[in-house]
Order: sequence, then structure tokens, then C-alpha cells
Amino acid sequence: MLDALARSCFHGLAGSHAIRRLASRYGMRRPTSFARRFIAGESVAEAITAARRLQSQGRLITLDHLGESVADADSARAAVGDYRTIIEQVEAAGIERNLSVKLTQLGLDLDRSLCLDNLRRLLDAAAAGDFFIRIDMESSAHVQPTLDVFGTVWDAGYRNVGLVLQSYLRRSMADLEALNRLGVRIRLVKGAYSEPPEVAYGDKAGVDAAFVEMTARLLRDGTRPAIATHDPAILASTRAYAHAHDISPARFEFQMLYGVRRDLQAALIRAGCQLRVYVPFGEQWFPYFMRRLGERPANLMFVLRSLVEERAAPL
Ligand code: FDA
Repeated sequence: MLDALARSCFHGLAGSHAIRRLASRYGMRRPTSFARRFIAGESVAEAITAARRLQSQGRLITLDHLGESVADADSARAAVGDYRTIIEQVEAAGIERNLSVKLTQLGLDLDRSLCLDNLRRLLDAAAAGDFFIRIDMESSAHVQPTLDVFGTVWDAGYRNVGLVLQSYLRRSMADLEALNRLGVRIRLVKGAYSEPPEVAYGDKAGVDAAFVEMTARLLRDGTRPAIATHDPAILASTRAYAHAHDISPARFEFQMLYGVRRDLQAALIRAGCQLRVYVPFGEQWFPYFMRRLGERPANLMFVLRSLVEERAAPL
């Protein structure tokens, strides 16, 4: 209940222009600025530097060029152009070829066929360079449209693409079973948006129980599934389940967010697990950043402390 309240409070604040202005002014301007804890930087070059560091520590990576819900068709097309540039720069840098993308960035809210066309162009560019593209899952209103667009590219034969499912949604187990049958690579997350009780479990216990059940199903029947959580109890139960059912750590991976629970990330690698870090970057970092605060309001203290230090120090 408190979780849901904190989340909807931070989602509300994410719409505030005053807070966005304040955050944009102070959030990224120095190496120690508060948003840099969760965001690798505003440029591809900064993201590549972060990715190199993570890979040198034994972590896998996926890069996410931040942005969501574009306002017009030109911006949606431009987002594909940005991703093509990123693909070129990643190839030149020689880091891992794995990207995450949101369909509203490609125009899902504007026109389904525009989004589909943009996704095809992105997947073609990605396939040429042997990249894997993961489609993030957004709010519940976007789930069916996202599954529909995904289904179209899957039926057209694209296989360098996977999806995210959210355990807080009541529908997700049925979606998982259908996608498992197709052999789709799924990343399982708890879910980061503020959702009504008709579609989502409102309590942490319900969300966690669904996550554990879906994890078991993915480990048994899934295709290279990704278990994306920082929850120590679920990490332990997932490892115990895999061990008990003789499922090798090579058959699945854990995933965590950049800057979150780096201690657990290191512990999983030491234990011989595969661990991928989601590395977000770009100028449109504010909504992503607010979702991270909504997940853990204690992060707010860290932000406020940094803000006091920022304001005290001249540029
Ligand atoms: P939970 O919120 O229960 O937290 C468990 C513990 O993790 C906390 O007690 C704390 O220790 C730590 N923790 C969690 N969040 C933290 C934070 N922000 N700061 C510091 N500590 C934190 N969501 C979505 O709706 N669509 C998507 O496509 C994705 N994609 C995605 C990719 C990857 C790789 C990850 C790891 C997560 C996502 N998410 C997402 C976000 C996801 O839905 C969820 O909101 C967060 O992962 C937080 O939930 P946990 O599973 O960590 O559990």
C-alpha cells in the first residue's frame, strides 16, 4: 500500500515542470551530481565508458537511450536514427551489442503502423550488426499494443528481439505462457508504473508471489530468460530453484539497474551467475529517474544531500 502511494506520488511529481527544471539544472552537471548515480550520462560516449567499466568487472550490459512518448512522427523517426548512430558507435567501441528500447519512443502512441515501421527499421539495422533488441514494457495501457507490434515482427521472422513482462499485472502469467510457447526471450520485472487494482496486484506480497511463480515457469520452459530484480529474497529463491532443478546458471541471467544494489551485483558474479546491467543514458532522463525514486523513497535523501552540495558549489 505504501509502495503504491510512494510510486503514484513520484509519478505525479514527474509531471511537474518546476521539478523537471530544477532536476535538469543540477542533476547531471558534475561527475558527482545526483542523477549520475542512476544514469550513465547524456551522451553515447559516456554510456560506452560506463559499459566498458561494467564489462571489465565481469558484468553484461544493455544500453537504453532514454526517451518515451514522442510528440510527432518526425521525432519517432529521429529516435530510430539515434539508435542507428548508437549501433555504429557501439560497433566501433567493441562493447557488447545489446540495446533496450521503448515502443512509445518509436511512435506507439501516435500510430501503430508508424511504430511498426520504425521497429522494423531498427531491427534491420540491429540484425546487420548482430545486436539483440529488448522491448521494455510501459504502463498497462501499452501492454496489448506492445504485444501486438511484437507479434507482427515475430511473425515476420525477426528473432533478434525480446520482450519484458511485469509480475504486478494480473494478465502477465497468461502472456508469459503464450510467449514461452513461441520461444520468445523474456525479461521478467515487477513493474514500475502506477496501476489501478483492476489490472495490477496492489500489495508487495502479491507482486512478489507472482514474480516467484513466473520465474519458476521461465526457468523451466523459457528461452534464455532474464530475472530482473534487486530483491535479495527472490534472488536467493531463484538460485535455489535453479539448483534444485539442475538448471545451469548459463541458461538464464539476472539483470539489475545501473547504480542499484552494486553490492548484490558483485555477489552474484562472485557466485558464478550471469548478471546484466541496464545502462540508461541520454538527455531525456527525468521520467526514468523519478521512477527510481518512486521505487525507493530513501533515494530522495541522497538527492537532497547532493542538491545542497551542488547549490553550495559554483560551476
Ligand atoms: P523491490 O522494489 O521490491 O525492491 C527490492 C529491493 O531492491 C529494495 O529493498 C532495495 O534494496 C532494492 N531497490 C529496488 N529499487 C531500488 C532503487 N531504485 N534504488 C535503490 N535500491 C532499490 N519496469 C517496467 O515496468 N518495465 C520495464 O521494461 C522495466 N525494465 C527493467 C529492466 C531491468 C534490468 C530492471 C532491473 C528493472 C526494470 N524495470 C522495469 C523496473 C522494475 O519493474 C522495478 O520497478 C525495479 O526493478 C524495482 O523492483 P525490484 O524487483 O528490485 O524489487
